[in-house]
Amino acid sequence: PVTRCYNLELVVKDLAPDGFTRPVWTVNGQYPAPILQANMGDRIILNVTNNFGDPTSIHWHGLFQKGTNYYDGPVGVTQCPIPNRVTFKYDFTLEQFGTFWYHAHHLSQMIDGLKGPFIIHNPKDPYRGTYDYEYVVTLSDWYHTPTGILLQQFSDDSYTGFSPVPDSGEISGFGQYDCNAAPKNSTCNSNNEVATYVVQKGKKYRFRIINTSALVHYIFSIDNHPLTIIEADSGLLKEPITLNSIPINIAQRYSVILDANQPIDNYKIRAHITNCNPVNNKTINFDSAINYDVTGILKYDGAGDNPPTSEAFPLDTSEACRDVNPNSLKPYNNKMPQTVITTFKAIVNFGAAASGRAIALVNNSTFVPNDDYPTNQKIVDGVSPDELSSNDNPYTYESNSENCNDDGVEIHVINNTTDSHPFHLHGHDFYILYNGENNTGLKSPQKSEFNTENPAIRDVVTVLPISTTVIRYCADNPGVWLFHCHIQWHFSMGMAVQLIETPSIFKKTIIPSDVTGLCANDDFIKDMTI
Ligand code: C2O
Ligand code: CU
Repeated sequence: PVTRCYNLELVVKDLAPDGFTRPVWTVNGQYPAPILQANMGDRIILNVTNNFGDPTSIHWHGLFQKGTNYYDGPVGVTQCPIPNRVTFKYDFTLEQFGTFWYHAHHLSQMIDGLKGPFIIHNPKDPYRGTYDYEYVVTLSDWYHTPTGILLQQFSDDSYTGFSPVPDSGEISGFGQYDCNAAPKNSTCNSNNEVATYVVQKGKKYRFRIINTSALVHYIFSIDNHPLTIIEADSGLLKEPITLNSIPINIAQRYSVILDANQPIDNYKIRAHITNCNPVNNKTINFDSAINYDVTGILKYDGAGDNPPTSEAFPLDTSEACRDVNPNSLKPYNNKMPQTVITTFKAIVNFGAAASGRAIALVNNSTFVPNDDYPTNQKIVDGVSPDELSSNDNPYTYESNSENCNDDGVEIHVINNTTDSHPFHLHGHDFYILYNGENNTGLKSPQKSEFNTENPAIRDVVTVLPISTTVIRYCADNPGVWLFHCHIQWHFSMGMAVQLIETPSIFKKTIIPSDVTGLCANDDFIKDMTI
């Protein structure tokens, strides 16, 4: 293991990822943000220099931050926002491996561009010998209006609760917007570049697919090439499963193996938007909206430049808004805690604030990040969990032992809305014991209905409309952890709770005083390939 030090400079820059030029919140001028790579065991230092002109912070999605809760990133939960013109040093050791990502965790800056892949390799990854090369693919919806403007409506008394509609979609930061729909005075190019992945016939490729969207779910496929899933979020599968298309909700990740065994040619990569939730008073028919379905190209070496004429696999509409069936994602290791120390029922609803403004509720309370930490830029220090949790939807529990088997926490997410919600847990991954179907009701299922034999392990699960999902995780990570819907707009409406895990230990955490500073070598490591 080595120490890797990366400088990330946050700057707003005009870019046109889908052909339409707008200010984008970038890392080192790039959107999507650069792929961070490291090996398991490495210490990573990320010097985040904020030149956005606005406060910000970064969350390392899927990393447990064991012992370093204060580097988790959510503003108003574990840190104050990083002020403009300040460098904040995130510094932690990578104890996991797999496909992760990083994104802003302040306001909706993530939607404006601050998001990128974070890949942690492991020489002992049991699947490592089963492919020759690997690629990272990000999928994302995309808005032309900066969220500073879009978010204003959320604090308006007349806000009705519908999410802003994206303008287009992208594969790895490339989208094709039809500029006829753009306002007259905008800078727009209808013939934008297409995301292209070159493969050699006869080789096998690992594609790491990440949905970094704000609002939408995708069905991902590559014509003529079934895809074999080996990893869901960062959890390896015991038995790989092969699908023609892969439904992937927000913040979820899959690693798939593609066998380049087809005739040398160009094939379409497709990311089909599926519409899970009503937007702006109506259910938008994304299927008829040309700007939403995104395509890329899988290009066999030697195939020439003709656009692909390949045909899509038939669309499996039953995959719309869904996760890959959790019961088919058997974990490589099943270490599900057998004893449950606490069960938290999280009833999810929309509601109205006193002013009439639409808000989101968990157990009748809406999450408001705590903005009043005494010092800017300093991490929460010496604040007791009780103070920390004031008005922030806390749920507190103490673990019993050092033994995960005896320290299970169960969350029953009871979705009393007609939307579906991809719920994400910070600081842990979880076993999916039960994932209720659409409209199957708001009661906790019987224990006999739980999958305890080989439950999927991941860190984002889709909770379907009017249904209940049960997850269980090990309380082995003292700290304050968010549990929230990863639809960014729902999070902005307050669809989140804070889990205050084992405060007796967490209270004793000593927080480093030095959180500013640059890498010794000021040169940004441009090629982060291992
Ligand atoms: Cu991917 Cu709270 O975040
Ligand atoms: Cu939601």
